[in-house]
Amino acid sequence: MKGLQLLSTGGALPGRVVTNEDLCRQVDTDDAWITTRTGIRRRYYCTDSEDAATLAIAAARQALERSGLAPSDIACCVAATLSSPTLTPGIACRVQAALHLPETCPAFDVNAACSGFLYAAATAHGLLGTLGGRYALVIGCEVLSRLMDPTDRATCVLFGDGAGAAVFALTEDAPFAVTLGARGDDAIRVGGTAARDAAPITMDGRAVFRFAVEAMPHCLQTVLASSGMTLDDLDWVVCHQANSRIIDHCIKHLHAEPSKFYKNMDRHGNTGAASIPIALHEMEENGLLQPHQALACIGFGGGLSWGGMLLTYEGRK
Ligand code: ACO
Repeated sequence: MKGLQLLSTGGALPGRVVTNEDLCRQVDTDDAWITTRTGIRRRYYCTDSEDAATLAIAAARQALERSGLAPSDIACCVAATLSSPTLTPGIACRVQAALHLPETCPAFDVNAACSGFLYAAATAHGLLGTLGGRYALVIGCEVLSRLMDPTDRATCVLFGDGAGAAVFALTEDAPFAVTLGARGDDAIRVGGTAARDAAPITMDGRAVFRFAVEAMPHCLQTVLASSGMTLDDLDWVVCHQANSRIIDHCIKHLHAEPSKFYKNMDRHGNTGAASIPIALHEMEENGLLQPHQALACIGFGGGLSWGGMLLTYEGRK
């Protein structure tokens, strides 16, 4: 089977920084509670002139520029989001127009909550196989600040906004494996859209925690088994950045090397479908990703849903 390789990334963060101290003025909470339970210290919120589409376009433009490819090389564009400003056109279509991607390039959004980037990448992988073409643009973007109840301390301390994007190439020459799954459950629920006032995010935090610490090692072990690799063969594990303790639990369970597990939730909070591509982008920016490195990306979230992908980083063409 042909697999995906990561060529390049892009990222976009909105203009407003919100620290734990800022939230202490909003709800009855404190910095120590938030940092010890989650590892989160600050997050970004969109200003009035920003939304998930403006962030997605900026991140996608950067990823495309860094890939060294032309817009006409992109054969499909998939955006993972649950916070598009409009149900249609979706964010991927807005990106397609802004970046002048060809009209033969299918563009659409996928909603699999915090697993969305992996669902979107797996969908793009399938589309390249079905429709032909070599390169896919995959975006994760969220404005969760507009889907939260700012007076609910149990959720408003957790989430942030942002976008990340990746250009993938279809190739036969590199290890690749993917796993996706779902178990319909209301443990995380978002009632409305970012465009309309409606039921905000509610979450059974403890149930989601229990689910996450089971789903993450399961996804990692599944992609390792199907690619014939071990944890030692991986350079990086890039997990959905919901909570530092969930990642620590996974490290402990697998007796894994903690330094392989990238963490940035201290600076971003949980940015839903954007968290994995934002992490990949930060890693590329900081020179942590080097050509031919092997990485596993692991996500879990609303649905309930989960996903894992094992691939290599190739760098620009
Ligand atoms: N500040 C201070 N106290 C708080 C806060 C807060 N921000 N929030 C809740 N509390 C209180 C509660 O009221 C409760 O008080 P009580 O004991 O007097 O009733 C106490 O803290 C413990 O509350 P729990 O909810 O049981 O706290 P827990 O230790 O489970 O931590 C947390 C909560 C951080 C949400 C944890 O359950 C968690 O991380 N769950 C996973 C969430 C997650 O990963 N979501 C990702 C998917 S989201 C998506 O897909 C959109």
